[in-house]
Amino acid sequence: MVRFGKTVCDVGTDHAYLPSYLILNGISPKAVASDIGEGPLENAAKTVRAYGLSEKISLRLSDGLWNIGENDAEDIVLCGMGGELMVRIIDETPWLRNGNKHLVCQPMSHAEDLRRFFIENGFTIEKETACEDSGRVYIAISAYYTGETKAYPPGFIYYGMLPVSTDNLARAYVEKQAQRLKKRTDGIENNEDLFAEYKLLSEALKDIERKLENADG
Ligand SMILES: C[S@@+](CC[C@H](N)C(=O)[O-])C[C@H]1O[C@@H](n2cnc3c(N)ncnc32)[C@H](O)[C@@H]1O
Repeated sequence: MVRFGKTVCDVGTDHAYLPSYLILNGISPKAVASDIGEGPLENAAKTVRAYGLSEKISLRLSDGLWNIGENDAEDIVLCGMGGELMVRIIDETPWLRNGNKHLVCQPMSHAEDLRRFFIENGFTIEKETACEDSGRVYIAISAYYTGETKAYPPGFIYYGMLPVSTDNLARAYVEKQAQRLKKRTDGIENNEDLFAEYKLLSEALKDIERKLENADG
């Protein structure tokens, strides 16, 4: 999802494997590998040295994008964090509200918060993809700012742009989201205090089920 030829910043890089891959494969000309922790940045430094990439990858200690400048990168990658943290990092970076900057996010949890944030804050979700590693399905979302906000069906934040009709992994991921919602709605069905949540989640669940049925057809 990182665009060919674009400079990149990998936020929360840990071992800097991703920026190293992007440079070694000629996808990115230059990268910033950033992390909030000194330990991960030491890991990153080892990888960068091992591959002789010190000229092309700069290491930066930074909470989110606070120490990253607008001119440092065109594509910004956030992988292996929770969706809520990604929302916080994106929301506090005004220069991401620029259509030339593209985001690639791989949320480990709460992807629905990230999608909701994107739709309600003028970001367009361009593409989503699912992949599997050691039996677990992961998703990645690419998005960029257009300034447009639009209404969305209640289940959208759970399935987004995942290609459920053509990709079994995407479908498996969305089915898992549906199971999670079903468990929650069954659990709160008779709780009057949580009626508003029940109603919201039930509508989302119906929409997800419709989406999966239509994908079958
Ligand atoms: C699970 S690792 C993911 C590493 C790599 N991105 C990947 O997907 O394999 C999460 C990394 O995010 C970093 N991190 C956590 N909060 C952060 C923040 N607010 N800003 C930058 N990095 C952060 C952690 O220090 C850690 O190195």
